[in-house]
Amino acid sequence: MAQLRSRRSNLAVPGSNPRFLEKAKGLPADQVFLDLEDACAPLAKPGARRNIVAALNEGGWGDTIRAVRVNDWTTEWTFTDVVEVVGGAGAELDCLMLPKVADAAQVQALDLLLTQVEKANGLEVGRIGIEVQIETAQGLVNVNSIAVASPRIETIIYGPADFMASINMKSLTVGALHPDYPGDPYHYILMQILMAARASGVQAIDGPFLQVRDVPAFEEAARRSAMLGFDGKWVLHPDQIDAANAIYAPSQEDYDHAELILDAYDWATSEAGGQKGSAMLGDEMIDEASRKMALVIAGKGRAAGLPRTSTFTPPA
Ligand code: GLV
Ligand code: MG
Repeated sequence: MAQLRSRRSNLAVPGSNPRFLEKAKGLPADQVFLDLEDACAPLAKPGARRNIVAALNEGGWGDTIRAVRVNDWTTEWTFTDVVEVVGGAGAELDCLMLPKVADAAQVQALDLLLTQVEKANGLEVGRIGIEVQIETAQGLVNVNSIAVASPRIETIIYGPADFMASINMKSLTVGALHPDYPGDPYHYILMQILMAARASGVQAIDGPFLQVRDVPAFEEAARRSAMLGFDGKWVLHPDQIDAANAIYAPSQEDYDHAELILDAYDWATSEAGGQKGSAMLGDEMIDEASRKMALVIAGKGRAAGLPRTSTFTPPA
């Protein structure tokens, strides 16, 4: 399932810069998004559409998930973005990203347009996914209905920079903690997005961290959302990619332990294992809830391609 593909790191690439588009192909990000929105000046947008179509059709992206961020529906560009990019390179595109989503109707509008452009170009209808960015107060208030607005939705993404502007937040350091506030000022927003994503079975993605030279500060912000359950984070610079790939994947130890729990619980509940609903794995008591937690960690580890280094041997 597309939704379960690993999205630990999602690299932002401005569509107006052919050199960056070319360079992005060789980087180990799980996903790239080629940007027509805020990283492209208005006068550069027509050229950026052509650059993106060419970069997608040229290929060389390997297993990387290829998304294009179109402009939001309040501009004059969204329609042409979709028609040109999907019409020009729809077969080489995995998702469209829609920024500044205000309500479910905006997602439905994109779904309808996308369906028509797919039909007009002989593409498989419904294959291209939608990623929605929540980056305004209105979007957050509507996030639960946005999350179920189209079966194409694969991720809900937090857009902290626009969001902080939208709610008049005083800090300018996006994603960083602030000495004037004792807690994590983003916790409420992240949790709302995470609940909407989990309730509708899609991925939750944390947004950018702008201090690109400060990798330890990026790691600190990434660890906060990874701990909550987020699936990945945007990266703006190659230096942030390895950090995101490591932080959003489970550790080797946790992954091995999760696979062990699944095997041990499988055995315990089987005929041969005595059909037990709870069992001991070493010093740990495991039951159905342990299996569910283990499934989450094992799923993320498998998606990230971690090797399994533990084996389960049933008790004699
Ligand atoms: C991303 O688009 C952001 O506004 O943070
Ligand atoms: Mg934004």
